[in-house]
Amino acid sequence: MNELALNGGTPVRSNPYPSWPSGDDREIDAVADVIRSGDWGGYPEPGRYGGRFETSFAEYQGAKHGILMSNGTITMEVALKALGIGWGDEVIIPALTFAATAYAPIAAGALPVIVDVTPDTWCIDPDLVEAAITPKTKAIMPVHLGHHMADMDRIMAIATNHGLAVVEDCAHAHGQQWQGTGAGCIGDFGSFSHQSSKILTSGEGGSLLTSDDDLAQRAHSLIDCGRAKDADEKQYTFGANYRLGELHAALLVVAMERFPAQQAQRAESGKLFEELVAQVSGVRTMPVDPRVTRWSFYNYILAIDPEAFAGRTNEIVCAALEAEGIPAEVQYPSMNHYELFQPSLSRLPVCVEFAARLDPQTMSFPVAEAAGQRESVYFMENVFRDGTKGIEDAVEAVAKVQRHAAELPQG
Ligand SMILES: Cc1ncc(COP(=O)(O)O)c(C=O)c1O
Repeated sequence: MNELALNGGTPVRSNPYPSWPSGDDREIDAVADVIRSGDWGGYPEPGRYGGRFETSFAEYQGAKHGILMSNGTITMEVALKALGIGWGDEVIIPALTFAATAYAPIAAGALPVIVDVTPDTWCIDPDLVEAAITPKTKAIMPVHLGHHMADMDRIMAIATNHGLAVVEDCAHAHGQQWQGTGAGCIGDFGSFSHQSSKILTSGEGGSLLTSDDDLAQRAHSLIDCGRAKDADEKQYTFGANYRLGELHAALLVVAMERFPAQQAQRAESGKLFEELVAQVSGVRTMPVDPRVTRWSFYNYILAIDPEAFAGRTNEIVCAALEAEGIPAEVQYPSMNHYELFQPSLSRLPVCVEFAARLDPQTMSFPVAEAAGQRESVYFMENVFRDGTKGIEDAVEAVAKVQRHAAELPQG
C-alpha cells in the first residue's frame, strides 16, 4: 500500500497553511489613500508613506536611519557604493545564500570572494573570512540565513582589526536581535528585502538601515538619481532611480504594524517545532545561537541525514513533504553551483582578475555543498502561523517521510 502522499497515499494535512502575503481592509484602505492622493511614485524621495515606514522600521530594529528602495538586492549594491567600494575591491560573502549577495558586489564593480559556512549555523565561517582577507578586501557581507544570525561578535572583531566595512544581508532576519542589538544595526549597513515571500513585505521592496548620517545621505542620493541630500544641496552622487513607489510603501506601513505579533507567534511555534522535530530520527536541528536575544525568522532550517532517508536527496524529501501538505524547500545550492558562475552562462570568467577567483572548478565549499546538495530542508514561514496543530502536522510529516523514505523515487 502506498503510504506517502507523493506516491498516492493520504497526506498528513489536507487543509492549507495560512497564505502569505495576506492583507485585509487595512491594506486596501492604505493603498486607496495613496490612489486618492495622486502621489503614487517615490518622488520626492522619500514619499509620505515611504518616510513613515523608514522611521518605524528603523526604530523597531534600532537604527537611526532607514532608506527604502525597490528591492533587497540593490540595497546591498547601494550600501557598497555608499561605502565607496567598487572596481579592484574585494567583498567577502558566504557560499550559502541567494544569488543577490554575490550579485551586489559585482554590480558595484567589486569581486565577491566566497567562503564556506559553519556546520552549526550555515552562516559565514569567521575563521575562513579571516583567511580570505587580502590588501584588496574592503567589506564583509554576512548573511543571517533562515532562522540564524551569523556570529556578529567575531565578524565585527575581524572587521575592526582589518579596517573593513560590514554590510549585513538581513533578507531573512527582520526583527532578529543579537545581544540586544537589531539585525542590520551591528555593521555599517543592514540590508532587508520586502519581496513577497519575506516576513515584512509589500510584494517588492528593500530597506537599508544605518546609524551613520553621511552613509544614509549618500544612500538616499544614490537611489534618487544622484540628487544631493546634504543641507547645501551640493553633494551629488552617480545615482539612478531605485525609489520605491507609494503604493508599495503604504503596504509596508500596515505590514510594520502587524509585524511584532506575527514575529512573536512564529518564534513561539519555532521553539515547539525544534523541540518536537529533534525526536525524529535522521534529522539534525541547529538551535539558534543563545546570543540571539529576539528571535525572528523567515524559514526554519533542518538538516537531514540522507542515509537515514534511504539515500534520497533533500530535493525528493522536500517534494514528499510538499505532497504531505507541508511547505518545504531546498532553497540555495552552494555558490559554486549557481549558474552565475558557470562559464557557459556568464561572461564573468572573461575578466582575467575575476576568472581565477570565480572559477567554479577550483571553488570548494564542503559544508555549503553538503547543505545545499544533500541536507537542507527549509520550512516556510506559514508553517509557524497555524498554532500547535500546524507544528504537529509538520513534525508528523517529517517522521512519516523518514519512515517510508525507501518508497520515495530515486533522485
Ligand atoms: C539572502 C537574500 N539576500 C538578498 C535577497 C534579495 O532580495 P530581493 O528579492 O528583494 O532583491 C534575497 C531574496 O530572496 C535573499 O534571500
